[in-house]
Amino acid sequence: MSQTNGLNRRAFLRNAGLTALAGAAAGSHAPVFAATDTAPAQASNGSFDFDTVYNRFGTDSTKFDQQIRVYGKDSVQVGMGIADIDFKAAPSITSAINERVKHENWGYLDMGKWTPRMTEAVVAWNKRRYGVTIDPNSMILSNGVHPALIAALKAFSPKGSKVLLQTPTYNGFYSDLRESETKAEESPLKFVNGKFQMDFDDFERRISYDTHTFILCNPQNPTGNCWSADDLLRIGEICLKHRVIVLADEIHCDWVSKGQKYTPFASLPNKAVVDNSLTFKAASKSFGLAAHKTAWYYSTNPELLARTRQYHRADLNTLGIVANYAAVTDGEEWLRQANDYVSGTHDMVVNYIADKIPLLKVHRAEGTYLTWLDVTGVADRIGSKKLADDYNRTKPANMPSLTPEQMVERFFVKTAKVHLNQGASYGKGGENHMRMNIGTSRKLVELALNNMAQACKNPTSTSLNLLF
Ligand SMILES: Cc1ncc(COP(=O)(O)O)c(C=O)c1O
Repeated sequence: MSQTNGLNRRAFLRNAGLTALAGAAAGSHAPVFAATDTAPAQASNGSFDFDTVYNRFGTDSTKFDQQIRVYGKDSVQVGMGIADIDFKAAPSITSAINERVKHENWGYLDMGKWTPRMTEAVVAWNKRRYGVTIDPNSMILSNGVHPALIAALKAFSPKGSKVLLQTPTYNGFYSDLRESETKAEESPLKFVNGKFQMDFDDFERRISYDTHTFILCNPQNPTGNCWSADDLLRIGEICLKHRVIVLADEIHCDWVSKGQKYTPFASLPNKAVVDNSLTFKAASKSFGLAAHKTAWYYSTNPELLARTRQYHRADLNTLGIVANYAAVTDGEEWLRQANDYVSGTHDMVVNYIADKIPLLKVHRAEGTYLTWLDVTGVADRIGSKKLADDYNRTKPANMPSLTPEQMVERFFVKTAKVHLNQGASYGKGGENHMRMNIGTSRKLVELALNNMAQACKNPTSTSLNLLF
């Protein structure tokens, strides 16, 4: 094994327990990691390889290493929590970064050149892929969707006022609300005939004199819904009627399953509805560039843009710009294949769970690389509520309380060595749910499912100490 890019691979394999990977939790599995693979992604006969597991242990990743840090050595074999992908980056990204790194100076970048260049590339990307025409003057680059959303919240929602969310929804929105000192007004989605739907009546009822913004998530994290033009138009009209500004977070838009469609909010046929919105996007989910801190937002309404800009400042960085530019100018074929691969993985997961894990329920996501699992069966069998209550009653005063969902999260770490995100953090409707990130090799997904199936055979809390 070699020491590569400053990462001591022997140490991380040892620390992560990968040298003896095979199924400590659940019988025997063949090792799945290509431990020393450092070659950039290359298409062979035009096809990219998403199947060979790309080991992220020992790279200071949130998805893998943070869980080892929290739960201990050897605790996690498959990280399926935070929303990033495990694939090697598209080759255009790696070669652009390698090229720039050859110049060993990191002084200030000429943003007078790069802002218009990057903006034009993003405008072209949106036009080419989604038929949306965006005026480059109406697009602002940002360090991430979060900073831009926070700026918009500060611009339109006074402290203490309410922000509409359709829940369960991306847990990070709650931290944006904390940052802007606003409060969530949660309108739960309905689950009808195996599909999540907006509850328009409930949504409208929740609007009051101090509701000024709504954070739309399209495609939706965590349910994977791709909202239809009708859904978007109807919710947009309600917002327009009540002077609630739509903040459309469309960061997951490039992951859409076969037969499904992403409809940009800005493409709706009602100009007044579109003018009442800002859209927030990035290539970070699409290409696995979260650490490169580059995103953008736009609006057809100059006043909304100007007000948001008052609270927004972006300090973009050289490698972030280089990576994102390479992604949107030359990454499309990689993304197309990655998207097909993940779409197939969604089918695999749904079929596997239906066949082999009767304690779990799952619906087929329409987009994203996220799977929203109903774990009520497991929660009941391990008595997650009682476990959490007992813990919270006796815990040291300086320790945070735990939710029943955190007990289920711990159950899967302890018995299956799989880390999933616990549902309670996604707001109302997140109870008894877990979010599973399948943006990885199917071999790893299969390992996780096998481990989980084994753990779910006869789950019980009696012999379990879920306090790590
Ligand atoms: C819906 C949604 N919005 C925003 C973000 C984070 O965006 P950024 O990293 O650009 O701040 C995420 C990350 O998971 C997300 O799922």
